[in-house]
Amino acid sequence: MTISPEYLSTLRERIDRRLVEVYPHGPRLLAEPINYVLTGGGKRLRPILTMITAEALGTRDDRALHAAVAVEILHNFTLVHDDVMDQDRTRHGQPTVHTRWDEGVAILTGDAMFINALGELQRSSVAVTAMSQAFTKGALAVCEGQALDKEFESRSDVSLEEYRTMIDLKTGYMLGLAAELGALAAGSEPAQVDSVRRFGQLLGRAFQIQDDLLELFSDSGTMGKSLGSDLLADKKTYLVVAALDVAREEVQGALELAKGDLEAGMDVLRDLLQQNGIQAQAEGVVKDTIAQALDELNILGERKQSLVAFSQLVLNRKN
Ligand code: IPE
Ligand code: IPE
Ligand code: MG
Ligand code: MG
Repeated sequence: MTISPEYLSTLRERIDRRLVEVYPHGPRLLAEPINYVLTGGGKRLRPILTMITAEALGTRDDRALHAAVAVEILHNFTLVHDDVMDQDRTRHGQPTVHTRWDEGVAILTGDAMFINALGELQRSSVAVTAMSQAFTKGALAVCEGQALDKEFESRSDVSLEEYRTMIDLKTGYMLGLAAELGALAAGSEPAQVDSVRRFGQLLGRAFQIQDDLLELFSDSGTMGKSLGSDLLADKKTYLVVAALDVAREEVQGALELAKGDLEAGMDVLRDLLQQNGIQAQAEGVVKDTIAQALDELNILGERKQSLVAFSQLVLNRKN
């Protein structure tokens, strides 16, 4: 089974239509950046996951719409603050909020978006309490993951296991939350809610490793965001952690070079990753992790098919 492009665009349109209704008016320095972010693009993977999960588990997908939009606002809030933390200047092909306005505006925009996300969740006509509990856990996990991501910048002995904990928190939980909210909207049994949450979390893990790969092996035009900041900030991506283990001095040399000449540093690092088989290893981990995610869906029987198709969309993404 595949998910038809027409169906995906219908879902995206419904999500986008609701997103612009969320905070249409307010002080200029709040309403403008919020709507700038919410209309600025993005793949809408998390709300689509919420809607598809709800439908797979047997509810009309409009019952999941508010929860889906809530998770997308939450995600975009984390991106606004993440771009401040990572000092990234471009997102969705346009200047980041702190670049277009300033850091103060970016902080406030993120704060208000978080509150808007909660408000949107409260509009759900089903399972609001359970959804709020899941939402709170997911949102705190992102902060914890971001804290580890920051802490790891100043460490060169991060293990792959520590890296995995960090990305599960900063990225995995949010995809897990997206799927969980869909199951809650459908009134599913706890075992099914747990299984789609674990599916989403593992998919999120694969998604972040893939993002680490794309940061080095794609280009900013395709990705719509500035690339290379990972190296400048000494981020411990999958690739850097794995490569430090086998070629520590060369990798440190490449990272040092990148500080003066980003393109040259990236070229050297790419060569090192290819020569040492780290790029291929990371691609293998992405595939294996998606397979592990799919194992979590067996409890759903035939109803898992659209989620299987969704995982293929993630695996084949180009941006
Ligand atoms: C970006 O996520 C942040 C990461 C977890 C790597 P997406 O690539 O899903 O962001 P948009 O919403 O499509 O821009
Ligand atoms: C994104 O982390 C996860 C968030 C919590 C926002 P990254 O910093 O790795 O993602 P990009 O590359 O900026 O999208
Ligand atoms: Mg970032
Ligand atoms: Mg970051």
